[in-house]
Amino acid sequence: MHLRRASIGVAILALATLASAIPQTTAEPARHVPLVVSPSIAYQTIEGFGFCQAFQRANALISLPEPHRTAVLDLLFNTTAGGAGFSILRIGLGSSPDSRGDHMNSPQPTVDSEFKWDGVDSGQVWVAQQAQRYGVETFIADAWSAPGYMKTNGRDDQGGWLCGVSGEGQGGLCGGVSWIKPYAEYLAKYVKAWVGAGIPIHSVGFLNEPNLIKNYATMQSNGYQAAEVAPVLIDALKEVGLPEVGVSCCEGQGWSYARDLLAEMQEAGAVEGTLKMITTHTYKGTPPGPDRPLNTTLPVWVTEISPIMDKLGFTQTWYSKHAENEGLLTAINIHTAIVTGNVSAYIYWIGVEANNFEPPMIWAPSRRRNATVPDGTAPYTIGSTYWAPAQFSRFIRPGAVRVDVKQGGEGAVDALLTSAYLNKDGSVVVQAINNGDEALSISLAGLSTDCKMGQWVTDGERKLTALEVVSGAEKVPLAKRSLTTLVFVC
Ligand SMILES: *[C@@H]1O[C@H](CO)[C@@H](O)[C@H](O)[C@H]1NC(C)=O
Ligand SMILES: *[C@@H]1O[C@H](CO)[C@@H](O)[C@H](O)[C@H]1NC(C)=O
Ligand SMILES: *[C@@H]1O[C@H](CO)[C@@H](O)[C@H](O)[C@H]1NC(C)=O
Ligand SMILES: *[C@@H]1O[C@H](CO)[C@@H](O)[C@H](O)[C@H]1NC(C)=O
Repeated sequence: MHLRRASIGVAILALATLASAIPQTTAEPARHVPLVVSPSIAYQTIEGFGFCQAFQRANALISLPEPHRTAVLDLLFNTTAGGAGFSILRIGLGSSPDSRGDHMNSPQPTVDSEFKWDGVDSGQVWVAQQAQRYGVETFIADAWSAPGYMKTNGRDDQGGWLCGVSGEGQGGLCGGVSWIKPYAEYLAKYVKAWVGAGIPIHSVGFLNEPNLIKNYATMQSNGYQAAEVAPVLIDALKEVGLPEVGVSCCEGQGWSYARDLLAEMQEAGAVEGTLKMITTHTYKGTPPGPDRPLNTTLPVWVTEISPIMDKLGFTQTWYSKHAENEGLLTAINIHTAIVTGNVSAYIYWIGVEANNFEPPMIWAPSRRRNATVPDGTAPYTIGSTYWAPAQFSRFIRPGAVRVDVKQGGEGAVDALLTSAYLNKDGSVVVQAINNGDEALSISLAGLSTDCKMGQWVTDGERKLTALEVVSGAEKVPLAKRSLTTLVFVC
């Protein structure tokens, strides 16, 4: 293992201060699984975990009265205050004529208007500035659609194609004009406005779920058409002096659809060597989750995920039956995306919002527009879907490399799902999900007994609860239906 001496002392100190007096639950005689971590077998780099406050959802956070607003910001961003330390914010770039409902207003809403950014962007600038205050460095921007006047259907919602793209959808030339370059220039100006406001933009996407037609900004595209736009956008970013801003594609809804889009773009030669990363949304059912890595050497990011398909809404139940909106399934989905899908970043749809149907990680019902909130309603409530992203994010820091971990001993325990990471500061993180009804215990081979091990657990009763720091050689109990994080500092 490559341990950096300077940071080790600091990390041990951090573990020591985090050690809490909360006693461990007495372990029943449990099946023991020795794990073997091999830091020399390295997989993908993890860029981080995050969320989005687009679609006017930022306002739910902005309008929370203090001290609740700061408390919620701490939950999202502050590792010191016991929060998630989310390290990525996804920003929606507007294309709509107004900011009503789920619309994000465009800085150039009509063909005749000048490009004029409002510096607010539906409240997202404020959220980005707060994120920055907590040390977030990765801001990704994504447009759901081009403004209506650039499209075949003349509006930014209800699907339609970008004028100028070939083939499907009769993109062709609308009124003899291709809008590919003007759209690229629009996005480049938009990104430059954000950069000018002090928010560095990591990458920009020009599509969102191009397989869907909705009553909010939607624009259809296949992979060949996307391949016509991506290089033009790269040039436009260089043109405005932002060559470091990458282009991502295509935020497709569903893993198998992402695979199709990718194959089409690759056929057109616009993936490796062109894009910065592949972006995809893995909503349940389309199919359930990454069944194998996408066929690319580029990093793959899940940029949107929310348990919305079964319409179960918001819950605080960690586990009852693996319902879509429960925390344990959220943990399993993150594990699958990273370990099976080779995903580098995982971004939940909404952090905080007033509606409870999507559902957000944190629900602030009193901020719901015109809602009648009964007296005594909590200003905000933490949902079960917060805990797993938070527990992955808090300990697996940007730049960590996923490393190999295997079950040793006799016979694999199917209910035990593990992954391991080597952070840049030299600490080793093991995420262990016990998806069974029996308690287990684990131990780690391959790490010195001098290592100190911090433990955190979330299950039905405990939420990101710190347990005592023990020697790296000790057996660690894994409660039934739990997510346990071990952080080794040697
Ligand atoms: C994070 O929390 C700690 C402890 O409560 C606090 O001292 C610090 O100011 C917070 N960070 C920010 C950026 O607010
Ligand atoms: C994966 O991509 C490579 C190069 O882009 C291609 O040659 C190969 O056929 C692809 N494999 C599959 C299974 O699609
Ligand atoms: C996993 O993703 C990385 C980029 O993050 C890539 O270099 C590597 O080839 C991928 N591995 C597989 C098996 O697809
Ligand atoms: C909210 O209340 C205002 C003022 O009573 C009203 O004009 C508006 O239509 C209401 N909005 C919704 C979404 O019900």
